[in-house]
Amino acid sequence: MRTLLLASALFVGLFCSLAAVPIPVPVPYHAFCKTLWLFAVPCNEISTKVVTQIQAFSPQYRLLSTNPLSIRANHTSLDSPKGENITFALNPTILTAGCCVFAQSTSIGFTSLLDGGLNYCNLYNLLSASGLISTPDFMEMTNEWACLGYGLASCKA
Ligand SMILES: *[C@@H]1O[C@H](CO)[C@@H](O)[C@H](O)[C@H]1NC(C)=O
Ligand SMILES: *[C@@H]1O[C@H](CO)[C@@H](O)[C@H](O)[C@H]1NC(C)=O
Repeated sequence: MRTLLLASALFVGLFCSLAAVPIPVPVPYHAFCKTLWLFAVPCNEISTKVVTQIQAFSPQYRLLSTNPLSIRANHTSLDSPKGENITFALNPTILTAGCCVFAQSTSIGFTSLLDGGLNYCNLYNLLSASGLISTPDFMEMTNEWACLGYGLASCKA
């Protein structure tokens, strides 16, 4: 396990510029999912697809802001009327013309720390519906501590 974590950390270090990683702000009692996506595709293409998909999923997803390095949106559903904040931080990769994306979904209301995979699925459904999940060499790195419900979640959208 330790070896795996070290290997992941080295991998991320090689491929992602960590300068742009948002400092994690602790949000106790707000369920969240943080995940890291690596693409062998430039960030501008990733950004276009994510933004287009957020707009296509309106009104459950609402685009709040977008610029070349970040995308902000929110999501609401019958299951979670208070909704979730969603952010993507995009970093061009150092060694390849790819993109490293830190994606996060956080429940706005106070929730049980069992969110049934809601926050994970908010991110996963964008990835899946936009087709980004099947781009060659796509990788996701997260675990059940960084991303509540990861590994249990079966996303329906
Ligand atoms: C989501 O963003 C829209 C557009 O700015 C806003 O009207 C709505 O209140 C927001 N929803 C939540 C749950 O924050
Ligand atoms: C959600 O986003 C709003 C608007 O940016 C912010 O005021 C609020 O603190 C965020 N809530 C959480 C739990 O991240």
